[in-house]
Amino acid sequence: MCGIMGYTGKGNAVPVIIDGLSKLEYRGYDSSGIAMYEDGKIQVYKKKGRLADMLNVLGQEPLSHLGIGHTRWATHGVPSDLNAHPHCDCSGRIAVVHNGIIENYASLRKDLILEGHDFISDTDTEVMVHLIEKFYTGSLEEAVRKALTMIRGSFAMVAICSEEPDCIVTAKKDSPLIVGLGEGENYVASDIPAILGKTRQVYIMDENEFAVLTPRGVTVSDFEGKPVEKKAIEVDWDPIAAEKGGYEHFMLKEIYEQPKAIRDTLAGKFQDGLIDLSSLNMDDKFRQVGKIFMVACGTAYHAALVGRLAIEKLARIPVETDIASEFRYRDVLWNPQDLMIVVSQSGETADTLAALREAKRQGITVLAVTNVVGSSVAREADKVIYTHAGPEIAVASTKAYLTQLLVMYAIAMYLARIKGSLSPQELQQLGSQLQNTDALVQEMLDREQAKGQIRQMAEKYQEVNSTFFLGRGLDYAVAMEGALKLKEISYVHAEAYAAGELKHGPLALIYDGVPVLALITQDQLVEKSMSNIKEVKARGAVVVAVCKESLQEDCQECDDQILLPDVNPVLSPIVSVVPLQLFAYYMAIFRGADVDKPRNLAKSVTVE
Ligand code: AGP
Repeated sequence: MCGIMGYTGKGNAVPVIIDGLSKLEYRGYDSSGIAMYEDGKIQVYKKKGRLADMLNVLGQEPLSHLGIGHTRWATHGVPSDLNAHPHCDCSGRIAVVHNGIIENYASLRKDLILEGHDFISDTDTEVMVHLIEKFYTGSLEEAVRKALTMIRGSFAMVAICSEEPDCIVTAKKDSPLIVGLGEGENYVASDIPAILGKTRQVYIMDENEFAVLTPRGVTVSDFEGKPVEKKAIEVDWDPIAAEKGGYEHFMLKEIYEQPKAIRDTLAGKFQDGLIDLSSLNMDDKFRQVGKIFMVACGTAYHAALVGRLAIEKLARIPVETDIASEFRYRDVLWNPQDLMIVVSQSGETADTLAALREAKRQGITVLAVTNVVGSSVAREADKVIYTHAGPEIAVASTKAYLTQLLVMYAIAMYLARIKGSLSPQELQQLGSQLQNTDALVQEMLDREQAKGQIRQMAEKYQEVNSTFFLGRGLDYAVAMEGALKLKEISYVHAEAYAAGELKHGPLALIYDGVPVLALITQDQLVEKSMSNIKEVKARGAVVVAVCKESLQEDCQECDDQILLPDVNPVLSPIVSVVPLQLFAYYMAIFRGADVDKPRNLAKSVTVE
């Protein structure tokens, strides 16, 4: 979720770009930079750290009428001065900034190096500027068009060239990009807040659209060059609303960003339809692994619970899961073949780091799953797989959890591939189902936007002070996440329980009218789940079934139903958690809680 800003016009580009980047600070970043046309050359200033650090390098604001800037949320290559954008070609004539993931960057980089291009960073973006250089014969627009035909992945990219001192070329595929329209000046940015102070006339760039900006105007076309008629919109948001993309809260924005987060996280993880994590260089370790220990906190722990069931089912490898703060009190019987997997959105959670360090002390290989490049967990683990959820601002984790699930499934499937516990055909089928989950999540979000069923349910139950979430197997793991979401942002007590265990005591807590959310996605477990539902209904509970459409008939006895699109039961957590996130969100709204910053909590718990 990098920030992009560009300007061409009669004014000074530098202050405009810096102001624009500062308005994108909420997107999170670890380095920033600016490239501008100055005295016939492209001058680049960039620095690891905050915007202020880059401004120290920039010093006295130079005068330029053409420039581009970037705040980087690292995905490939740790945060550093060299990895910061903009990136330049060998000649220094062309500069590029980029937001997205270039899936085939490794092969492109190899070919470009063989052709004599010098690379100085570890980023995927740098291949883009060298490709443009390769095709540049006097038209930046044509060179960018040709370069983009070679690139697979997602991008919002912007390029300038010292040979064309008033021209900006930009293109969009699966990453946000907007163009601001001024008088004798024009802007490009990754998000509306960056240009709000300058203009409210905006083109929202659509998929596979290409634009050329000069002070005299903006021309938009598709990637083949066919002109596109764009209708400018008048943006009436205030700056704060704009940071949330028009959503009322960051949490809701991040819930609705989940389909894209799924695509970004799975990008580059499949080769010929099969899951491929060989870039980890862990195949030997995976081949010999005896037992896996998964350790995490909070929501990340709930993702690990799903990971455990997925790995045991698909790869037939024993897995233990522990809450990180409890793990350290175990006298674990380690075996050198063991593997530890730690899961952490922030990569800075003290309890999780403590568990990681204990495993390292015991000489155990640690694989980290984290959302923050260069975080402590990423640096201290032996290997790391990044979730590409983008910065998660709301304290309550949603899109990060969902992308953690995807990585859990990717690990389970890759282990199954290495161990041979699933055939290539089974893996291909599961892989295509996994890659289709973004459409299923989108379907549910669209349905809620159209009908508001979950919002109405929250309105109905807003006064309750206690709820239960029930499930068996994978549904129990998701019930735990649903209960945590409700507790942490609406302050309603919520108990997640294994549906089969309720009768061994907690059933005493069921009373007339208490809402029970029952997850029912496991086709083989429906009968048993329904008998548990009868138990609680007989004691006065009001039961809301969160069930797959194909199991709707089985759940007729429930008082309400939230229907999920049909999905392979093993992948059901990816879809079943979404209504629970929305339920918690709307309950918090109706109860007047501070959704993005709930009381007593922090986004990253760096104390033990
Ligand atoms: C999740 O909604 C909570 N904010 C919290 O449980 C969080 O998941 C936990 O603190 C772990 O954080 P991490 O993923 O950054 O390690």
